[in-house]
Amino acid sequence: MTALGSVQGSPHTRLLGVGSYRPSRIVPNSEVIEAIDSSDEWIQQRSGIKQRRWATDEETVEMMSIEASRGAIEEAGIQPEQIDAVVVATVTHLLQTPALAPMLAHKLGTQRAAAFDISAACAGFCHGIALGSDMVRAGSARHVLAIGVERLSDITNPLDRGTAFIFADGAGAAVIGPSDEPGIGPVVWGSDGEQYDLITQTEDWRYAIQCASPHMPTLAMQGNQVFRWAAFEMAKIAQQALDRAGVSVDDLDVFVPHQANMRITDAMARAMKLPDHVKIARDIAEQGNTSAASIPLALDRMREDGEAKSGDIALFIAFGAGLAYAAQVVVVP
Ligand code: COA
Repeated sequence: MTALGSVQGSPHTRLLGVGSYRPSRIVPNSEVIEAIDSSDEWIQQRSGIKQRRWATDEETVEMMSIEASRGAIEEAGIQPEQIDAVVVATVTHLLQTPALAPMLAHKLGTQRAAAFDISAACAGFCHGIALGSDMVRAGSARHVLAIGVERLSDITNPLDRGTAFIFADGAGAAVIGPSDEPGIGPVVWGSDGEQYDLITQTEDWRYAIQCASPHMPTLAMQGNQVFRWAAFEMAKIAQQALDRAGVSVDDLDVFVPHQANMRITDAMARAMKLPDHVKIARDIAEQGNTSAASIPLALDRMREDGEAKSGDIALFIAFGAGLAYAAQVVVVP
């Protein structure tokens, strides 16, 4: 039998660069509550959100992705043609096909990089990091660009008091490449499809069209159940990611959970008994919940503020619709 040729990648990987894009329009709670029975005080107390950013017409998923990606590529110190694969995590590229990734791969100047979208909602960015890292280790790519981008304002019902104040827009990106030392720990990921209906689109596109619905389908969420799942179950996943990477909470410098709700972040930090020296991402206060973009946006904010620096050990954990989740320990670029 003829033996097939095989490839081998780098034994280790790391994040070579991270970039992000924040939309220009700041939307304070006072604007959101014009349409719902709520208050600035309630929103801040229950979610930690003071304001969020919603994209303007010009700030498309394509435009925001390109801006975030350019920052990541520049920091990585590589040329776009060195990128072999582009993985885009999003649920708000509102074309069923084609995916957003091939257009981005072209516009960024890659040489026909493999390019595809993944749908893992708020957990998407950590899925992209895991895929990218495994691709570089397996040898199917040397540099992977993982993007998380959302315009959740497009699919949020401004009259729904359970979701209108939470969701927001933005983009983040990371370049994953080979490394001499381990820079991305093993992923711990999974799903709980039994709770599939806790965060969903209100109806599928075909049904909406058949019913001649005057509105686009939007997001519906059973917030209380999502909250309990995230606050109690996700700390266990985060701990497993630490264990698999062979580090303890004492070794951690930075904790960057998906920015879903400040109280979920606090509950996880308490459950994991994070020591005081660990800096915790709290970007949700200014940015809202940007789903697949929230982790790179939050990390970038911490780097800008000097709370995270190159070489720090950071724990990422992302979770959301599906229900789907993924966590890994990384070295900050
Ligand atoms: N403004 C004011 N009051 C509101 C409100 C709003 N926007 N939404 C709900 N309430 C009221 C309810 O009517 C209820 O009042 P009652 O006690 O008089 O009946 C009370 O607040 C509690 O409602 P509940 O739905 O239990 O709120 P909550 O404490 O669970 O907070 C969320 C709501 C959405 C903030 C919270 O459930 C949450 O953050 N969930 C997770 C969301 C999330 O992370 N989603 C993304 C996952 S990726």
